[in-house]
Amino acid sequence: MKTFRIRCKTEEESVIVCRKHVFSAVLAPLRAELCDGGGIVFTDSNVYSLYRSQIGRYLADVPVYVMPAGEEFKTEKTLFSLLEAMAKAKLRRDSTLIALGGGVVGDVGGLAASLYMRGIACIQVPTTLLAQTDSAIGGKTAIDCCGIKNLIGTFHQPKAVYADAAFFRTLPAREITCGLGEIVKYGALDGALFEKLCAQKNLRDLGFLESVVPDCIACKAEIVKRDVSDLGLRACLNLGHTTAHAAELALGTYSHGACVLLGMLYEARLAAMFVRTDEAYLARLEALIRTAADFDPAAADVPRSAARAAFDKKNTSAERVTLVVPVSPGAYETLELPYQTYQSALERIRRAL
Ligand SMILES: NC(=O)c1ccc[n+]([C@@H]2O[C@H](COP(=O)([O-])OP(=O)(O)OC[C@H]3O[C@@H](n4cnc5c(N)ncnc54)[C@H](O)[C@@H]3O)[C@@H](O)[C@H]2O)c1
Ligand SMILES: [Zn+2]
Repeated sequence: MKTFRIRCKTEEESVIVCRKHVFSAVLAPLRAELCDGGGIVFTDSNVYSLYRSQIGRYLADVPVYVMPAGEEFKTEKTLFSLLEAMAKAKLRRDSTLIALGGGVVGDVGGLAASLYMRGIACIQVPTTLLAQTDSAIGGKTAIDCCGIKNLIGTFHQPKAVYADAAFFRTLPAREITCGLGEIVKYGALDGALFEKLCAQKNLRDLGFLESVVPDCIACKAEIVKRDVSDLGLRACLNLGHTTAHAAELALGTYSHGACVLLGMLYEARLAAMFVRTDEAYLARLEALIRTAADFDPAAADVPRSAARAAFDKKNTSAERVTLVVPVSPGAYETLELPYQTYQSALERIRRAL
């Protein structure tokens, strides 16, 4: 009898760097290397129109593939067009894809890099607050398919992530609120960050946002390190997200981060109703959520979206809704509620807002 052993590569290393002047200090020096091994810059139409001159100046000769901006283009069509562009650019196994953009570009670019020739290197250059604090970290890649968000994807750790807060200067207000949704989520997972957020008068101050990006990255990196393949601990990153995803699907007009703020507000109140919580803390968390939101939470008809929560990926049965709810500083609990209980509780919460 012969025995064969295959050592699986379980520990891909990913370097995450927060630094200024990412074009001149990081990407320009990489140019020669990229031309040598072949490389491609992948971005979207909005980012390209804003940063075209820097891409041309610092990454001249590197081919650029531009997807139309927006979640509706996070599709197999965009993915395959990008893969074709990579083939036309004659990328090799030692080539690198640079994903320059928000979470959509990062997810599609990461997926293309993981598929092309069974995997080439990917460098993430996240340009939104949400991407710098959340989506570019952790190696999850995806496209939406059959009307289901992130249905097709892989785990592919980026070789490096370069986060430059200079990109925030061109972000519309809506995208700042979107990023704040995830930042407040990290505040709910990390007591020290929570205090820092509560002490800040203007959460939209760009200097302040620059200072919290590394805090969020540190929090996510620690969680990912302990659960690379999303088998347990990573579930805490879904805090507030069951209600948020349902609201995002049903309400349409609110961004993902705005829905995360709504989701956390409702789920903090659900926690107060159904599990033992630190009430004073939850009142402070709700005040922080209201400061981060640039809209009136009572105006959003969150209970209308309850039915969508019945199909959440986290649910363990068709009749029950699984929620990751905040309970005390830095602590969360998994709460399972019968669907009818969840729906009527959401209605009660909205009436009391
Ligand atoms: N992989 C993960 O772990 C993970 C985690 C969270 C979210 N996501 C995914 O991330 C996506 C959301 O990311 P997002 O909020 O960054 O959305 P996005 O990529 O659509 O970017 C939002 C908008 O901002 C524009 N934009 C990007 N950078 C800009 C800049 N510097 N200045 C001006 N405009 C700019 C984009 O063109 C787009 O119109 C979703 O598809 C979500 O599923 C992935
Ligand atoms: Zn989120």
